[in-house]
Parts: sequence; structure tokens; C-alpha cells
Amino acid sequence: MSKGTMKENHSQWSSRMGFMLAAAGSAVGLGNIWKFPYMAGEMGGSAFVLTYLLFMFIIGLPILVLEWLIGRRGQKNPIHTMEDVAISEGRSKAWRWVGIIGVLGSFLILSFYSVIGGWATDYIVLAAQGAFEGANGEITGQLFTDFLGNVNSLLIWHTVFMFATAFIVAMGVGAGLERGCKVMMPGLGVLLLVLVGYAQYVSGSAFYDAIQFLFTPNWSAISGKAILAALGHAFFSLSLGMGIMMAYGSYLGKNVNLLSTASTVVILDVIVAMLSGIAIFPLVFANGLQPGEGPGLIFVTLPIAFGNMAGGSILGILFFIFLTFAALTSSISLLEPTVELLEEKTHMGRKTATVVSSVVIWALGIACILSFNEWAEVKLFNKNIFDLLDYLTSKIMLPITGLGTVIFGAWMMNQKLICKELNLDSFWFKVWSILTKFIIPIAVIVILVYGFA
Ligand code: PFF
Repeated sequence: MSKGTMKENHSQWSSRMGFMLAAAGSAVGLGNIWKFPYMAGEMGGSAFVLTYLLFMFIIGLPILVLEWLIGRRGQKNPIHTMEDVAISEGRSKAWRWVGIIGVLGSFLILSFYSVIGGWATDYIVLAAQGAFEGANGEITGQLFTDFLGNVNSLLIWHTVFMFATAFIVAMGVGAGLERGCKVMMPGLGVLLLVLVGYAQYVSGSAFYDAIQFLFTPNWSAISGKAILAALGHAFFSLSLGMGIMMAYGSYLGKNVNLLSTASTVVILDVIVAMLSGIAIFPLVFANGLQPGEGPGLIFVTLPIAFGNMAGGSILGILFFIFLTFAALTSSISLLEPTVELLEEKTHMGRKTATVVSSVVIWALGIACILSFNEWAEVKLFNKNIFDLLDYLTSKIMLPITGLGTVIFGAWMMNQKLICKELNLDSFWFKVWSILTKFIIPIAVIVILVYGFA
């Protein structure tokens, strides 16, 4: 191999690698480790889990590919990308609304995401203080309840987390974060495996109860609510429907194979969620906790493991550091669209735009914090502020923008070019077309309507 070829191969590899890291960094986050297990617990386990897995591959994967493909065509921020690609395909500029709703969604999600990121950060300190030592489910449950009641501390950690997010975005995502990702993400994976091993070791038969709860089909537990939740979570988990993957696609070289890269990201994302579930539910059952515990689930279960295993304090500290980091690689991707928009639509510089958007998001986060304590009774549509924000984004906005993306990609764009770009043979092109033209749009519409009903 000549020197020239080696160099070329190397640079291709490193750019694909950088892209994969950014995309996987955005996808893998609190959604996998915090949200997936508690939703599975609330929605009755396997019916939710299996539906979510199905949606990840038949709905999430094609939409991820389409977001990247459109982003690579447009080479701009999501709103202008949608506008430009629509115009070049001879369609209405109004398609930019897919980008606009996406940006709004990312803004709303970050307001509560940062609060939970703050919980993870505070748990680093609690682990370091030895707060979990020898704890059982009752103790960790009480710890978490006290924690939620303490507005000041929630506010401090939300502020710290939001500040860290804003700082990184203002500086531009430098080599530090990328390098950090390379260490932290595999580290998180290894720690999750250790936790799965521990859970199996201490939980005895509860381990098998957990596996059964998560994976043995129990279709009687399926409901419109669970299906809508699974769909929304597939979008949330892959960072879809917010233009974020579209924006990442705009940095993609022509030579990157979209289908195989997207498959890798989806598989990684699924593995982290599954490992989290398998680490957490045995502890739930073995300690007599409730699977439907809600958003506090991992904060109540995992400390039991850390408090009772050899070397648990160190592992606990490491785990919550990695979790915070995984949350940060997602939160920066959530802040980016709003900052970009402000930068372009106003005369603000990048730093001012970051400060302005962060402050507004931070303030909205305070309402979310209060919904866990003082405003717990403040309800709209029977939901507190946190639930409302989550519902509005995951179950309404993300599926709707995802639907817009797939309709645009399948009905408004030149299909021959897409087939060529994805290297599909005629059989797979048929599968792709049926999926994107019919199955996905119809499924999303039916689920949305059925979920509301
Ligand atoms: N996918 C991230 C997670 O699972 O934690 C959350 C997220 C990031 C959602 C970025 C949406 C997004 F645009």
C-alpha cells in the first residue's frame, strides 16, 4: 500500500470515527440509563421493551438515515437545510417547519434534561461521601425523597450542569470532549457490565424474574399508552425529530456509508439501554422495590448495589461521573440548535447566544425542579410541569417532526438518488420504499391518534 493511500484511509477513518462519537454521544445518554428503565417499569415491562426494540429498528433506523442524508445534502442548520433541500427538490419552503419544531423541542427537552443531569452530578458527591454504604432499598428511597424535597440543592446542581453544557457549547466542542468520550463511553459500558454481573450474583432468582419482566412477551400488558411511549422513546433515545442528527449529517463526507453507520449507532444505543435494564430490575425485585417507581428508579436501585459491593464507593463515584458525562454529550447537542438559530437570526455572537439561550432554558428548568416538590400539585391536563414537558416533547413533538422527515424523504425527494446514495440493490430498495413511504408514516399516525384516544 502506498503512503498516499494509507494517509487517505486514515483520514477517512478518523472522520467517520469522530462523527460516530458525536452521534453516539448524542444518542447515548440519560435516555438509555435513566429514562428507559423507569418507563419500562411504569409500562409493565416486556410489552414496552419489545415494542421499543421493534420501533428502534423499523422506525428509528430509517429516520436516522434520512436525517443524515438530508443533512448531508443541505450542509446547513436544520431549518435552512430543510428549506434548501425542499427548494432543490421543487417543493415548498414550508418544510422548514420540520426544522423549526425540532429546535423548539430541543429547547424544551434540555430544560428538564439539565435537571436530571444535575441529579446525576449530585450523586457523584453523595457516592463520594459514602452516603450509600450498607444501604437498603428503604434507605436509598428515603435519600432520594429527601433529595427531591431540597429545592436549593436541586437548583445548585441544575445550575452546575447547565453551566457546564453552556461552557462547552460556547467554547465549541473541542478535542477535550471528544477525547473524553473515547474514554468515558467504553468506561460506562464496562461499569454497566460489572453492575449486571453484580445484580446476577446477589439477586438470585430475582435476576430471572427481571429477565422475564423485561423480555418475556406479555402482550396483555400492551396498551395504546405503552405503544405511544415506546415510539416517543425510540425518537428521544436516538435524538431524532430535533434536527440534531440532521445538523450532524451536514458534517458528513460523501464516502460514509449511512446505513451501516446508523445501524451501529442504533445497536450501541439499544445495548446500553438493555444493560441498564438488566442491571437495575434484579435489584428492584430482590429489594422489594416497585418497578413503577418513576423517574427516581435508578437513583434508588443502583446506590443499593454501590453501597453493598466490594469497592462499591469507587464504582459508584465512577458510575455517576460517567453518567454525568454521557448526559453532557447529549445536552450539548440539545443546546446547539437554539444557539445556532439565535446566532443566525439575530446579531448575537456565539457566546451571547449561548448565554441567552442557556439562561432561558435554565429558568424553565426551575419550574421543572419545583414540580418535584413545592409545585407538585400544580397541574395542567392532569400532569405536573416535568411530566407535561416530557409528554409534549417525547410523545407529540418528536413523533410529529419524525413523521415530517419521513414523509419528506419518501415522497418529496428523488428516490433514485436516495437508492444510489444508500447503495441499495433492487430488493432492498423495495423494502426501504415500502417502509418509508407506507409503513412508517401510517404507523406513526396511527400510534399518535391511538395514543391520544
Ligand atoms: N438521546 C439522548 C438520550 O437518550 O439521553 C437525549 C437527547 C439528546 C434527546 C439529544 C434528543 C436530542 F436531540
